[in-house]
Amino acid sequence: MTNTIVPADPGRVLIFDTTLRDGEQSPGATMTHEEKLEIAEMLDEMGVDIIEAGFPIASEGDFAAVSEISKRSKDAVICGLSRANFKDIDRCWEAVKHAAKPRIHTFIGTSPLHRAIPNLTMDEMAERIHETVTHARNLCDNVQWSPMDATRTEHDYLCRVVEIAIKAGATTINIPDTVGYTAPKESAELIRMLLERVPGADEIIFATHCHNDLGMATANSLAAVEAGARQIECTINGLGERAGNTALEEVVMALKVRHDIMPFTTGVESKKLMNISRRVAAVSGFPVQFNKAIVGKNAFAHESGIHQDGMLKNAETFEIMRPEDVGLAATNLVMGKHSGRAALRDKLKQLGIEVGDNQLKDIFVRFKDLADRKKEVYDDDILALVRVSEDATPDHLVLKDLRVVCGTGGQSADMVMTVDGVEKSASTTGDGPVDAAFNAVKEIFPHGAKLELYQVSAVTKGTDAQATVSVRLNEDGRIVTGSNADTDTVVASVKAYIHALNRLIVRRGKVGAGADAREISYKDAG
Ligand code: KIV
Ligand code: ZN
Repeated sequence: MTNTIVPADPGRVLIFDTTLRDGEQSPGATMTHEEKLEIAEMLDEMGVDIIEAGFPIASEGDFAAVSEISKRSKDAVICGLSRANFKDIDRCWEAVKHAAKPRIHTFIGTSPLHRAIPNLTMDEMAERIHETVTHARNLCDNVQWSPMDATRTEHDYLCRVVEIAIKAGATTINIPDTVGYTAPKESAELIRMLLERVPGADEIIFATHCHNDLGMATANSLAAVEAGARQIECTINGLGERAGNTALEEVVMALKVRHDIMPFTTGVESKKLMNISRRVAAVSGFPVQFNKAIVGKNAFAHESGIHQDGMLKNAETFEIMRPEDVGLAATNLVMGKHSGRAALRDKLKQLGIEVGDNQLKDIFVRFKDLADRKKEVYDDDILALVRVSEDATPDHLVLKDLRVVCGTGGQSADMVMTVDGVEKSASTTGDGPVDAAFNAVKEIFPHGAKLELYQVSAVTKGTDAQATVSVRLNEDGRIVTGSNADTDTVVASVKAYIHALNRLIVRRGKVGAGADAREISYKDAG
């Protein structure tokens, strides 16, 4: 029996998520090991068919993540990427073989520009494809092959190499628009052409993998599906290099909402989209633009008078899908300082969050503290508290007291912190209150980690809104993120910084220096 997943229903489109590979490859979007495991678990639970968990030969960190995700996988196929050589493919197999349903994905650039990189003739490349796909297939019965830059590859040559890959045992052929160059009509014609001309094409699954350089990734992916592709490769929030990849939430909702003209289905539970979108934004440090389709803050906000009037009479006047369909509970006033623990548990349930007694206790303490300081507590505030509670790490460093002076006369910070239980203090200045406070942390706990990202956003409206802060640190290739939320932006910033440092301390004890650093890139010659 093979583990390939050819759906019985011809209208079923497989969703292949590559947030953890193509998405994470985006400069600055690096996730920690734990964050990758968490996102993979969410993807699996959401009904994604295939998870591309990483590029195992790229670094020890990638290998460890793909192996662990494979071990923990439930329903999804777990896939790893490898270039067109035996060493890459063997390393990929070592990582994915632990999965109940493993897949090896191997690729080589086939367009004239990409063929020039390894300096192979057309015949030599064809031979390389035959050898490497055969090798992968001898290890695993589920093999995906990609001709990188397919949309700029000569049609005759593309047909020739796709046929070779199918004959060598590839069960999925992915057609990447690597540089985001194609357009919907061309995307459809390419798939149609391959289905018509390549012998054996009707026995495998064609996948479409689009980049969004011209803003057409979603349209190109859907056009490919209409022409016969049955796997869409995409990422949460469209995360990815340059302008990103096809956004998972967009293709899933487009197929759902316009089923009348695109009669295809996916296995994704759309109510889970919002939650995973928020989580990917938090851990990648790439915020979702406010007007982003489906998961943007404004995607369901109707501000103008005309719209609001229409919405009150009939929601369908301006709404083509309901906020609940994507897991967005109406942002209403939820609770106040008199609300009890049972009400909080109920609220969390409504938001789709199940917590154990200990976590409920922790969130409740944080909620009471917030409700004391903030008149109106919204769903988004509660979600931010849940995140902080989920992200709790061993407290080597704990903030005890912080006084900040800011204004036109200069900025300074007085801080008291404990370091493994020992109280220490510092008084510092800086360019702004956050800089002054970060300098105090550094004085109390000297370290060489570089601050790679500092990002602040308001959770809700109003000047008493909580600020969520994400911080990313890099110490010799060990990358950690920290986050926190508070109505005081400087406190949230310092706590996020300390959160990242606590994770760094844990990480120092776990893996050798540089374990996360990428040694190679997928752009290196096949
Ligand atoms: O965009 C691309 O070509 C890729 C391949 C590695 C599949 O991501
Ligand atoms: Zn790509």
